[in-house]
Amino acid sequence: MQATVAVRRRELQFVRAATGRRTKLPGAMTENTQTIVVRHPLVQHKLTLMRRKETPVAEFRRLLKEISMLLAYEATRDLSVTRVEIETPVQTMSDAPVLDGKKLVLVGILRAGLGIVDGMLEIVPSARVGHIGMYRNHETLEPVEYFFKVPGKLHDRTVIVCDPMLATGNSAVAAIDRMKRAKPGALKFVCLLACPEGLKTFHDAHPDVQVYTAAVDERLNEKGYIIPGLGDAGDRLFGTR
Ligand code: URA
Repeated sequence: MQATVAVRRRELQFVRAATGRRTKLPGAMTENTQTIVVRHPLVQHKLTLMRRKETPVAEFRRLLKEISMLLAYEATRDLSVTRVEIETPVQTMSDAPVLDGKKLVLVGILRAGLGIVDGMLEIVPSARVGHIGMYRNHETLEPVEYFFKVPGKLHDRTVIVCDPMLATGNSAVAAIDRMKRAKPGALKFVCLLACPEGLKTFHDAHPDVQVYTAAVDERLNEKGYIIPGLGDAGDRLFGTR
């Protein structure tokens, strides 16, 4: 117990807030079984830069890529490894760990999900990539699928579905519904920002799928934007505002 507390204390990071006050971030990562918030100071710093309305497109894109690499690091923490024999320049090593099993599959929800997939591919370059296209029907507010292309034979692969904003949660739920029909070995969802409303909708529909996010913001506004959020992730990523 004491050891746990000591580790926890060591994990506490100090950041200097805009006011000049020192603020503690509560640990590198907080977890319940369903939502994993990656609170690493580098992630939080980069996220703040992304939120600023004056951040230009090129910087927003670079930051999303960098944060996505760090989110990928956490979301792949439980991948299994096997031991192999290798020759180092000095001697034989008989128990060197390497990733085991089939290649990971990253699935981007079009279009902003591509920004997360790009970043994750930097550290998992051999991952397979799928795409899901959805738009929102303005009358029913329900997501309508217009494109679905993922690798075949997913039963022994881990699939990570990516979309920066878990807002209403409707498209994330629909994307996971669709992915489940392809029967992947394991399924996770990675986003940049979530809100309580979206997380509730998501976990009510898919209690078995973990969400990895850099932050859970305050709420959703009446237009379906996350508050305080960062605006429209797709527009900011592609410069289409
Ligand atoms: N989609 C976005 O891009 N931003 C939001 O705040 C909500 C949904």
